[in-house]
Amino acid sequence: MSKRAWWKEAVAYQIYPKSFYDSNGDGVGDLPGIIAKLDVLKTLGVDVLWLTPVYASPEVDNGYDISDYQAINPRFGTMTDFEHLLAEAHRRGLKVIMDLVVNHTSDQHPWFVESRQSRDNPYRDYYIWRDGKEGREPNNWGGHFTQSAWSFDAATGQYYLHIFSPQQPDLNWENPVVRQEVRRIIEWWLDKGIDGFRLDAINLIAKAPGLPDNRGEGRYIFSIEHFCNQPRFHDYMQELNRAVFARHDMLTVGECADLKVEDAIAVSAPERGELNMAFLFEHTDYYNMVGKDAQKLKEILTRWQQGLHGRGWAGIAFNNHDQPRVVSCFGDDSHYRVESAKLFATLLLTLEGTPFLFQGEEIGMTNAVYATIEEYNDVQTVNLYREWVAAGEDPQAAFEAVRATSRDRGRSPYHWSAAPNAGFTTGRPWIGVNPNYIDINLEANLADPDSIFHYYRKMIALRKATPALIYGEFIPQEAPTQLYVYQRVHADQRYQIVLNLSDETVEYVCAGRRLIGNYPETEKQRLQPYEAGVFALE
Ligand code: NOJ
Repeated sequence: MSKRAWWKEAVAYQIYPKSFYDSNGDGVGDLPGIIAKLDVLKTLGVDVLWLTPVYASPEVDNGYDISDYQAINPRFGTMTDFEHLLAEAHRRGLKVIMDLVVNHTSDQHPWFVESRQSRDNPYRDYYIWRDGKEGREPNNWGGHFTQSAWSFDAATGQYYLHIFSPQQPDLNWENPVVRQEVRRIIEWWLDKGIDGFRLDAINLIAKAPGLPDNRGEGRYIFSIEHFCNQPRFHDYMQELNRAVFARHDMLTVGECADLKVEDAIAVSAPERGELNMAFLFEHTDYYNMVGKDAQKLKEILTRWQQGLHGRGWAGIAFNNHDQPRVVSCFGDDSHYRVESAKLFATLLLTLEGTPFLFQGEEIGMTNAVYATIEEYNDVQTVNLYREWVAAGEDPQAAFEAVRATSRDRGRSPYHWSAAPNAGFTTGRPWIGVNPNYIDINLEANLADPDSIFHYYRKMIALRKATPALIYGEFIPQEAPTQLYVYQRVHADQRYQIVLNLSDETVEYVCAGRRLIGNYPETEKQRLQPYEAGVFALE
């Protein structure tokens, strides 16, 4: 069993502040709005709140483009509001972690504003500037939000690197002064009393020496080959850990793309002194990009559960602000929305790893779909649409393609009630509210003892009261293809989790005493579509 720690026993809840609750009617969620809703989060039973960025930002990428790390975006409130939120959360026993976005800054950050002025100023080397090659970019790297990861800056005649949008220039972590600045920012927030960080795109901070071309055909190659999980990434994490993290009782979770089990162990094994945990994405990447396949989902999760046990630790999520909602893409949000939402609650809260809920999943919110490109806000959606249309693609076909992957699917405003705009705002929401809020909302969930919210609440309570569900060994069981059956075993406790990942009825006899389930406990011989349950084996 891995060593006990509060951040292993905690259940975290991700707040996307812009879409959470608007207290002042300007159409944008804000910090006082979060304070107003803390009690219901306490009722749900979560312990840690992760706030996606609330810092000063031009909001090209909804706050993941920071122009001042020590200021609050006025649309969200003031620093006093932030301090008030922290105090109110702590008063209720809730911890608060911030998003640390230090792979890149905004192009409006004073460092970059200075950096682009001339080739020889002290801030030039805060970023990654290179000469072009034969009239082209310095290398063939493709970007996340643009075709090339480089932009030319005419003022000084060089290109700068941006893995994300051109307004998000990458910091140069090779420069020790940059690393010192990052340490200073982290310490400043810890001194304020926050409880940790989610480190954005953190395994991208180290680029391969010499910035070599990616292998492959075509002008721009999007590949993580030379800027992901580089050896220097681990050096930087160990340096930060020695200097700051190890001196605080805090939670650190890395957003690490394209991890293999061994990489996750390298970043989270306690003896290596890097981060507490890394988020896992192989399962979400699979069903979001390839398709819904129960067998594959089981294979991926089982491999991670067995690979990390006793060696590292993970943050587990099925939803976040970059992903579609799992109830819509792996569950069935038309015929079995409630059942499949509860099934994913059962799965999330019975795996090893710190569970992270994303706002709205606890009430069964579904993917948002908008009718025109103008209704989309996501920089990735809008940039790719523009680039494709400029390259001659049919606008309707380009729209259909970007809509199918847009990150705005999970970013629509929270449904508080059946009041206009789902009770999110009295003004005009910054992005459309999903019209199904009339039926799917918190108020209705609270009033119904069988709701998804109450199921999450009970599942969270069960996990917290059951060490085997937190620390127990994960033992997969033989079962029909549609079913995922595993045990969590710790000392003399043995629990069996049974999940029907399909919309079929499947013959199966559940052993043990049922502790929780998403159907009435009547049928012992077969499982209903998306049926889920946790059983104690004596
Ligand atoms: C990952 C964040 O989750 C995403 O929303 C953002 O666009 C990129 N990192 C860049 O910061």
